Amino acid sequence: MKIRKVGVIGAGQMGAGIAQVCAGIGKEVLLCDIKEEFVQNGINTITKNLQRSVTKERINQDKMNSTLSNVKTTLHNNDLKNCDIVIEAIIENKDIKKKLFSNLGKITKENTILASNTSSIPISILAEASGRPTKVVGMHFMNPVPVMKLVEVIRAKTTDDETFGTTFKLAEDLNKVPVLVNDFPGFVSNRILLPMLNEAMFCVMEGVAEPEAIDTVMKLGMSHPMGPLRLADFIGLDTCLAIMQVLHRDMNDDKYRPCPLLIEMVKKGKLGNKTGEGFYKY
Ligand SMILES: NC(=O)c1ccc[n+]([C@@H]2O[C@H](COP(=O)([O-])OP(=O)(O)OC[C@H]3O[C@@H](n4cnc5c(N)ncnc54)[C@H](O)[C@@H]3O)[C@@H](O)[C@H]2O)c1
Repeated sequence: MKIRKVGVIGAGQMGAGIAQVCAGIGKEVLLCDIKEEFVQNGINTITKNLQRSVTKERINQDKMNSTLSNVKTTLHNNDLKNCDIVIEAIIENKDIKKKLFSNLGKITKENTILASNTSSIPISILAEASGRPTKVVGMHFMNPVPVMKLVEVIRAKTTDDETFGTTFKLAEDLNKVPVLVNDFPGFVSNRILLPMLNEAMFCVMEGVAEPEAIDTVMKLGMSHPMGPLRLADFIGLDTCLAIMQVLHRDMNDDKYRPCPLLIEMVKKGKLGNKTGEGFYKY
C-alpha cells in the first residue's frame, strides 16, 4: 500500500517530531491535538528544528519551506478520515488511547493503518479497541525523532502482513532503522531502559549520590551519552511513571515498582524539561 497522507495525533514532543520527518519526505501530514495552542506549539517546534538545520546548512531554505507547507493542522479527529496511516502520539494513558483507537476504527477508511507510538502499552489492547485489529501496529520512535535512527515496529498477533510491511517500509523511507519487536509491555527499549532510570531515582531517594554524580558515573563509567536522570527529565517524568506502571502491572513483578520519589515528583508537577523542573532545573 502506498502512503501519501499521514495523520499524526498529539502535537507534543513526539508528535511534532513525527510530523516533521514525514513532511520532510514529502508526505501530506495532518497534525491533530485537542487545543489550538497545542497544535501551534507543535508547529513552533517543527519550525525551530528546521531553522536550526538551515543554520547548520544541513538543509536549505527551500527544503524548510516545502517541509512546513506539507503540514496542516486540525482539532478534529474526523478530518483524518482519508489518511493512509494515522500515527497516534498522545499522552501515555491506556484508557484515553483505547477511546481514541475505538473512534479511529469508526471514522477512518477500512484499510487505513492505525499506528501507535506508545512507549509501553501492549498494541493488542489498542488493536482490540479499534474494532479492526489486523490494521493496528506499533511504531515506536525515539526522542528526538528527527535525530534518532531507531523505530521499533511492534507486531501484535493480529497485525496483518500488509500493515506490518507498509509500516516497516515507511520507517525505512523516513531514513530510520526499523526493528521488528513482538508485542510485550515496554517492548525492548523501555523494558530495559526504564528500570535503569527508575533505579537511578532510587539512588537519589536513598541518598546514594546527588543527581549530577549519578549521571557522571553512568556517562564516564558506562559511556552513556546522557546520564539516566537527565534522560528521564528529557523523556518527561509523567511518561516515565506511566511506563513503569504499565511494566509493574502487566508483568506482575515487583522488580518494576515505580520509585516513590518519581511518584512524588509527578504529583508536584515536576515533569522535567517540559515544566522547567525535574531532577534538574531548566
Ligand atoms: N517522550 C519520549 O521520550 C517518548 C519516546 C517515545 C515514545 N513516547 C510516547 O509518545 C507519546 C507522546 O509522548 P510525548 O512525550 O510527545 O508527550 P507530550 O506530553 O509532549 O504530548 C502529548 C500531546 O498529546 C495531546 N493529547 C492528549 N490527549 C489527546 C487526545 N485525546 N487527542 C489529541 N491529542 C491529545 C496533548 O495535548 C499533548 O500535546 C506517549 O505515548 C509516549 O509514551 C514518548
